[in-house]
Amino acid sequence: MSDYRIASIPGDGIGVDVQIEARKVLERAAELHGFVLQWTEFDWSCERFAQTGTMMPDDGVQLLAGFDQILLGAVGFPGVPDHVSLWGLLIPLRRAFSQYVNLRPVRLLPGTNTVLAGRTAGELEMVIVRENSEGEYSRIGGRHGTGAGEFALQESVFTRTGVERIVRYAFELAKTRTGRVVSATKSNGIIHTMPFWDEIFAEIAAEYPDVHSEQCHIDALAARMVQQPERIDVVVASNLFGDILSDLAAAVTGGLGMAPSGNINPESTHPSMFEAVHGSAPDIAGQGIANPVAQILAGAMLLDHLGERAAAGSVSAAVETVLAAGEVATPDLGGKSTTAELGTAVAEAVKIS
Ligand code: NAD
Ligand code: IPM
Ligand code: MN
Repeated sequence: MSDYRIASIPGDGIGVDVQIEARKVLERAAELHGFVLQWTEFDWSCERFAQTGTMMPDDGVQLLAGFDQILLGAVGFPGVPDHVSLWGLLIPLRRAFSQYVNLRPVRLLPGTNTVLAGRTAGELEMVIVRENSEGEYSRIGGRHGTGAGEFALQESVFTRTGVERIVRYAFELAKTRTGRVVSATKSNGIIHTMPFWDEIFAEIAAEYPDVHSEQCHIDALAARMVQQPERIDVVVASNLFGDILSDLAAAVTGGLGMAPSGNINPESTHPSMFEAVHGSAPDIAGQGIANPVAQILAGAMLLDHLGERAAAGSVSAAVETVLAAGEVATPDLGGKSTTAELGTAVAEAVKIS
């Protein structure tokens, strides 16, 4: 029997609520499929920041390094500035563990609704391959001047290695899917980094003659995602563009409560980290009404990454069964159930197929 060491960081707000449900479902899957998940919980959060002045201990990265994978709830809550909490926990972990791929698959599932008129389940499916270690997210820059002359500068960093590896990952993924990749660009307005991104995209595309490739300005791509989502399968995007497109992709496929995410270290030299696309949702935190599906599906991605593919499939199937039946649904899905009721229903629906 395999034993896996999993670090659990529930974090803030609804991250805590949905983490409990994801663990419930993963435990059931492990039991049925005959493996053990050994959980270690870390209380790293804005609450910890309030008590100690840091989001995680100084040796936080070393503490996590020995784990097989990490399951993270959400980070950030009013009271601690977002750039402090996120650069104190989530972003450093993504970088320290070379989780340079942020994989964000979305699919419109039976029993859920899309804001797009006339689309039904099975018609909408795509994946955002987001660069997760550099790009527009950088510490380089600063504030200068005073009064009306005050200004802020923020540098973006795009390295050849960083762009090549994310683009190549997207092409490899497309080979296993529909064979289509679209690159999100903005080289009409951003004159250094984006032409560089486009150039590397074209170079890698030439290595994959069997994959259909195109580039699309991110503004037009956003419109396409709403008006012609069936034209999109794999999207490769820089850190910021991928962040924005992944919430949009979630919105058109049932909402933020439905979209999972994996911060992947493809070489498996370090743990990968799985979380929902959404954040801590302070507006509904503590009410027990958050949709746990995104986090449960992030758990399925974690199992898949561990190599427990059958268990991952059982979890996804259980989610689909419960949503299709429509009896247990949180308010964002049009129902009245609680987070715990939906989590329990999914856990009970996990079966060996
Ligand atoms: P958010 O994703 O937390 O919430 C946006 C909206 O979606 C809110 O109205 C919320 O109620 C709703 N929503 C989100 N998840 C839901 C769920 N599972 N079920 C039902 N409704 C859901 O985005 P925000 O409000 O911009 O951010 C809140 C905090 O979370 C901020 O501190 C932000 O920096 C942080 N954040 C963290 C992560 C992360 O940890 N990966 C991701 C995004 C935002
Ligand atoms: C996400 C979040 C984070 C990001 C924030 C909270 C820093 O929006 O995981 O999508 O932009 O990466
Ligand atoms: Mn985001």
